[in-house]
Amino acid sequence: MITFNRVKTLKGKIRVPSDKSITHRAFIFSSIATGKSIIYRPLVSADIEATIGILKNLGIQILLEDGNAVVISKGYKNFVECENVLDCMNSGTTARLVLGLLAPQKKYYVLTGDNSLINRPMDRVVKPLKKLGAVIFARKNNCYLPATVVPSNMKGGVIDAEVHSAQVKSAVILAGIQIEEEVVYRELVQTRNHTENMAVLFGADVKVIKEDRQKNIMVKYKSSLKSASIEIPGDFSSAAFFIAAAYIFNDSEIIIRDCGINETRTAFLTVLNKMGASIEIRNKRDNYEPIGDIYTCYKRLNGVKISGDIIPNLIDELPIMAVLGIFANDPVEVRDAKELRFKESDRIGAIVENLNSLGVDIEEYEDGFKVYPLENLNIEKDIVLKSFGDHRIAMLNILLAKRFGERVKIDDINSIKVSNPFFLELLKKLEGV
Ligand code: S3P
Repeated sequence: MITFNRVKTLKGKIRVPSDKSITHRAFIFSSIATGKSIIYRPLVSADIEATIGILKNLGIQILLEDGNAVVISKGYKNFVECENVLDCMNSGTTARLVLGLLAPQKKYYVLTGDNSLINRPMDRVVKPLKKLGAVIFARKNNCYLPATVVPSNMKGGVIDAEVHSAQVKSAVILAGIQIEEEVVYRELVQTRNHTENMAVLFGADVKVIKEDRQKNIMVKYKSSLKSASIEIPGDFSSAAFFIAAAYIFNDSEIIIRDCGINETRTAFLTVLNKMGASIEIRNKRDNYEPIGDIYTCYKRLNGVKISGDIIPNLIDELPIMAVLGIFANDPVEVRDAKELRFKESDRIGAIVENLNSLGVDIEEYEDGFKVYPLENLNIEKDIVLKSFGDHRIAMLNILLAKRFGERVKIDDINSIKVSNPFFLELLKKLEGV
């Protein structure tokens, strides 16, 4: 059981660990490319170790030194047929992107994952890849890992997004680069676009054409990609916990420097500003991804209702919205977010159970929740928040435990290593400890 002392306020300047989505992609593109790529400041976390482990099995040399990584590859045409099963551990991004990467390889591969991952849907990537001619078999009618990729002759085609998922889009793009006919992925609701941005950096022929609301991603074959040097910005989704903390702990002032601020990721800021926050971004720079410093300052926020097309652009921040609802002036409601049930845990179920145990009024919907502000916390006995083996739920629980003090305990926080192994250290720095 984990306990923390009560914290009153958080002040200071931090850099959060590097972006998880961008780091996965940097290692994958460096492995597809021929030659030596350098990744400056990659995230080093459990999810990234899953991707690195698989790429090493494909015959790629990866060296981590002084916080940077050197990746040496003979190009995607020389991937090795692995002797053993590939373990995606807890990482949905690894499983889905690697399925796209390996489907056109004309080799035999088996992918699996931990107890959480083998219960997360994979049919969303298997279906479009099969439409392009891939031969993949997966457990329970092609829905769950373990999945087997078998040699096939993949062909071009048009794929319409059925799930608003950057992981599915990325799987199709990674396959498309290796398929001799053109592949087009059509997306009506914008999802994070790191794969499209990075593809260009490594010389892939990936073009994005906007037609009214629809984005058409056109992917053409390339027999090899060129190696690159790439620097990874801070992870906005890790920063979001500290941004939120500024509105949970009275009088806080937090600055997060060198953070990724790609607009397909930062809808959380738009929503917070709508709730009355005045978050400023200073020192904006643009490389292949926009970066900036985020300035936050405590204020009591108003409530909000969010739904519709904005949801994929703050999908990982939605659990945090629920906690902000506890401290706001009016309720916070999230709808059209059923996807939350298919993350590292059923995040709607997890939030509802934890907030209920704190005595917070919360309504549960199949596709979201509505959280009512907490007048005062009256804890007569110890409360145990559960993390469900989910890093984002564990980090939220830590914020709640530090806000309310020793009576609010947590069952386990080991999962924070998945995206931010330094979460506690960074909080300590802001506590002035
Ligand atoms: C990710 C995309 C999102 C996000 C996940 C990482 C990515 O998932 O929730 O944490 O790196 O592409 P979906 O695109 O499946 O919603």
